[in-house]
Amino acid sequence: MLVSLAPAQTSPPLPDRRDPDARRTESAIDSILAGLTPDEKIGQLIQYSGDWTTGPQGRALSTSQQDIVRAGMAGSLLNVFGSRATRELQRLAVEESRARIPLIFGLDVIHGFRTIFPIPLGEAASWDPGAVEKSARIAATEAASAGIGWTFGPMVDIARDPRWGRIAEGSGEDPYLGSAMAAARVRGFQGSSLSDHTSIVACAKHFAAYGGAEGGRDYNTVDISERTLRDVYLPPFKSAVEAGALTLMASFNEIGGVPSSANRQLLTGILRGEWGFDGFVVSDWGSIGELRAHGVASTSAEAARIALDAGLDMDMMSGCYRDNIASLLRDGRLRSSVLDEAVRRILRVKFRLGLFADPYRGVNPEREKTVLLSSHHLAAAREVARKSIVLLKNERNLLPLRKDLRSIAVIGPLADDREDPLGPWAGDGKPKDVVTLLEGIKRALPATTRVIYAPGCMLAGTDTAGIAEAVAAARQAETVLLAVGESASMSGEAASRSELDLPGRQKELVRAVQATGTPVVLILMNGRPLTICWEAENVRAILETWFLGVQTGNAIADVVFGDYNPSGRLPVTFPRSVGQIPYYYNHKNTGRPPVDSVKYTSHYLDLPSSPLYPFGYGLSYTTFSYEGITLARPVLGTGDTLSAAISVSNRGTRGGEETVQLYIRDESGGGGVTRPVKELKAFRKVRLEPGETVTVGFSLPVSALAFSGLDMRPTVEPGTFRLFIGPNSAEGLESGFRVKEKTAR
Ligand code: BGC
Repeated sequence: MLVSLAPAQTSPPLPDRRDPDARRTESAIDSILAGLTPDEKIGQLIQYSGDWTTGPQGRALSTSQQDIVRAGMAGSLLNVFGSRATRELQRLAVEESRARIPLIFGLDVIHGFRTIFPIPLGEAASWDPGAVEKSARIAATEAASAGIGWTFGPMVDIARDPRWGRIAEGSGEDPYLGSAMAAARVRGFQGSSLSDHTSIVACAKHFAAYGGAEGGRDYNTVDISERTLRDVYLPPFKSAVEAGALTLMASFNEIGGVPSSANRQLLTGILRGEWGFDGFVVSDWGSIGELRAHGVASTSAEAARIALDAGLDMDMMSGCYRDNIASLLRDGRLRSSVLDEAVRRILRVKFRLGLFADPYRGVNPEREKTVLLSSHHLAAAREVARKSIVLLKNERNLLPLRKDLRSIAVIGPLADDREDPLGPWAGDGKPKDVVTLLEGIKRALPATTRVIYAPGCMLAGTDTAGIAEAVAAARQAETVLLAVGESASMSGEAASRSELDLPGRQKELVRAVQATGTPVVLILMNGRPLTICWEAENVRAILETWFLGVQTGNAIADVVFGDYNPSGRLPVTFPRSVGQIPYYYNHKNTGRPPVDSVKYTSHYLDLPSSPLYPFGYGLSYTTFSYEGITLARPVLGTGDTLSAAISVSNRGTRGGEETVQLYIRDESGGGGVTRPVKELKAFRKVRLEPGETVTVGFSLPVSALAFSGLDMRPTVEPGTFRLFIGPNSAEGLESGFRVKEKTAR
């Protein structure tokens, strides 16, 4: 028997007119709406991209853009920042337009504004929501000082296909970890009060299932079941909404034949109906116009009508709303109440951001100057960057290195690169702010150590001329740090790859340097899992550093020399080969689970079924051991909470942090619905000194075991559950518990 739980567990309520603040806001919106012309209402729905961006100095604004703002024909601008530029445009909006409605300035503040933090996939590897929240808070503080009131982040797309370049922008493959990171980033961006001048509005994107693109090719078709949509792709969005995210961005893709920008079930049914979201939805760049290419609209007027009716409130750059809404209203093809509702949602967000109280939000060039790249922000960026590094291999404890080395070779195309470590979507990040690996290593070492640098080869291309110099450098050194990987432009938007090994001639470089016999520490910089079987087999140590931002060199040096004991864990599976993709740890068992040596089971003839590195994996300079799972009660009712504990000890000689991960496997039978072989349900990061043992406890409400049942309602199936607690998704201790039938009263 299935036990159904109420559909939306903790939906925030729609604006409650009994709440005096909400009542005041809603009646203020009523009176604004009553005074607007149809054109001014349409203007609120339109977002233009500035064709200029300015720093603190500011520059002249184009006349046509000024006129658009004066005419009240823009509700929002994106890609315009800098205190002078935004103040001047805001002045035009609130002093020179008839309706005097403030603009909201949006920008992709994805992992920092000027102080660039690690790419989101890297930050997710910290498994530290507190650190991620802090990073978003600093990004918000900096962006707000430059006039930005709204970020197009967090990107919360679950990505199970590393060919998809946008995997770099999100938190990886897991709905639970992804939901924790989504909420942390929303809290960081929006702060404790949105009207605070350091807060900016968050935008959970891309709604929805954008990461499910067939073949990992950007913008491609997504065809997934409603169950997969609800249980895998939607949870981080729901988590963002529950954390208070006031906007969402519709995705480019279709899901099962319905493009997101035209998907009423998604934008209205689920988002507003089930989750009670009362903010607004913005399109992705031009996505309303793309409804024609998708084939669901034959004209741009049709596209505008379908999108607005579906619940898509703001048009980013397609021009469809601007060009068509007035005539759609005149012809009776669009109800004016639909337009009014969209305007209301946008104004509501502007009110909550405090724009009507203070349209300038305290923005001025002096504040901007002191806030950007402050020493406090740089220190936080170094802290988050070193937490994001994952130690993948450390044969015979090659790492950490001693600082009294006589010589070290720092080799590779990324060793002294100051552009790529910023990663994709780097806000107003500047290469000159980046501490390169070479610089970080030199700073950490005494002047007596000889540091030999050789780039070896380029990131891409066929030139091998520099490899000989790199080999010579390796021969002269006691140890090699070899920085290889991808360029920033190989991940992010429109950056899908069909091969995931080291591009260009970097594989040859690694082989040649490895052949010298000098011990090699491979330092990977990249926006996605790479297929590095040969390297994993042959080099002695590997650090996955993603793109770490402005503090790259300092953070890596901290880890290389043991000033920081690495604690990152993979937020995504590393496959052995592209042929295994999509590969994710929380897959289904199938009727014929893989046994590599047995024919007629679900496996490849030419590859082991295991990944190269599993989800949740990462080493430390110390060793942790796990003992004895204890459960407060092994039999639980559907309203109960599971209490589990495990004892974790540090058996090594250094203090370090362990991320204790709790997974379940639902063996109840799912009431006719299959369940994944493992699902992460909780984790805790603990610090242990050498010899220390701690008991790590978890409380898991039984309702958190719910999945979409046969009737698509959240369901907990009575029966047995296996419980795993350990250091990653492939290792750990095992226990079990039972959820009993609900007794009839
Ligand atoms: C991307 C979005 C981004 C927008 C604005 C689009 O191309 O898909 O993620 O927020 O541009 O820059």
